[in-house]
Amino acid sequence: MQKSYRVAILGATGAVGVELLELLQNRSFPLKDLKLLASPRSAGRTMPFQGERLPVEPVSDCSFTNVDLVLASAGSSTSKTWAPVAVEAGAVVIDNSSAFRLEAQVPLVVPEVNPEALNNHRGIIANPNCTTILMAIAVWPLHQVGVVKRIVAATYQSASGAGARAMEEVKTQAHAILQGRRPETEVFPYPLAFNLFPHNSPLNHLGYCEEEMKMVNETRKIFGAADLRITATCVRVPVLRAHSEAINLEFETPLTVEAAKEILKSAPGIKLVEDQIANHFPMPIEATGQDEVLVGRIRQDISHPCGLEIWLCGDQIRKGAALNAVQIAELLAAKNLLQPANMAVSS
Ligand code: A2P
Repeated sequence: MQKSYRVAILGATGAVGVELLELLQNRSFPLKDLKLLASPRSAGRTMPFQGERLPVEPVSDCSFTNVDLVLASAGSSTSKTWAPVAVEAGAVVIDNSSAFRLEAQVPLVVPEVNPEALNNHRGIIANPNCTTILMAIAVWPLHQVGVVKRIVAATYQSASGAGARAMEEVKTQAHAILQGRRPETEVFPYPLAFNLFPHNSPLNHLGYCEEEMKMVNETRKIFGAADLRITATCVRVPVLRAHSEAINLEFETPLTVEAAKEILKSAPGIKLVEDQIANHFPMPIEATGQDEVLVGRIRQDISHPCGLEIWLCGDQIRKGAALNAVQIAELLAAKNLLQPANMAVSS
């Protein structure tokens, strides 16, 4: 008989939490029980699930008793506090925050790229940053054939990456501007409606922001390529929930446009959108709500004989966060690895 699991969502009321609920409902994850956890602000709220309304509980020391799997998406400091408590109570945690991603013993997993990294987990598995997941999905299959030496990425990131309140803020700002009023800012430092700005995460001593360094360090870890040369410029744009990325790849030897298209056509998690006659390529509006990352505008880099340009759009909340986490959970279940950390053995 197929095993089923007791699952808790930490951050259930957030943008990613709501998507996790929908994915658990619509995919056939073997669920025995579901618990919704958030901050004390959400006490008393209920959320719809499979025709019922489930209560949202404030997370506490007792929240993880009799829980097999925690899907956490409530920010880094919340994860740092509660993930160890959950593991201690016997649960496996798939964490969507940056809290543990670069820890050597924590697998950082994109199921289409490095599923084998799950085999020796010790209770916490990290879900990569959204821009990293989307880029990894598109670059990995090409890297298997052409060996990528250098990646230069520019991102066009939607409001959803900053959470549900940020999405509301952009809509409110758009209304205000259209009515001739000054847009107010609370989540973002500047108005995002009818504007864009370089990603506002903290800068390091070289002037790179945290988001850019996530793309660098996380991609290297996922690819198992510590020396891969990567640089990125991350920009927030007034799009609600799908990120776009322009990626320049330099290979060891030339990879033709035709070969790249053939590879991407059959790669998992990707849909090739490449209609030069209609000038139709990936757009965030068409990536929204999709499981696949849309990839297109594949061109030879005219400035380098071994260079290729690609363009992609992917739903930040879905494949960039919730779907990737649920796919990790499905893999853990299939490998019989959803059990307390010290008992996990790959089958
Ligand atoms: P709450 O709605 O009670 O504030 P988003 O990324 O969309 O902003 O969502 C963040 C999620 O993380 C929400 O579900 C939020 O719950 C939850 N959250 C934020 N801070 C905490 C905390 N200290 N403890 C538990 N959950 C938290």
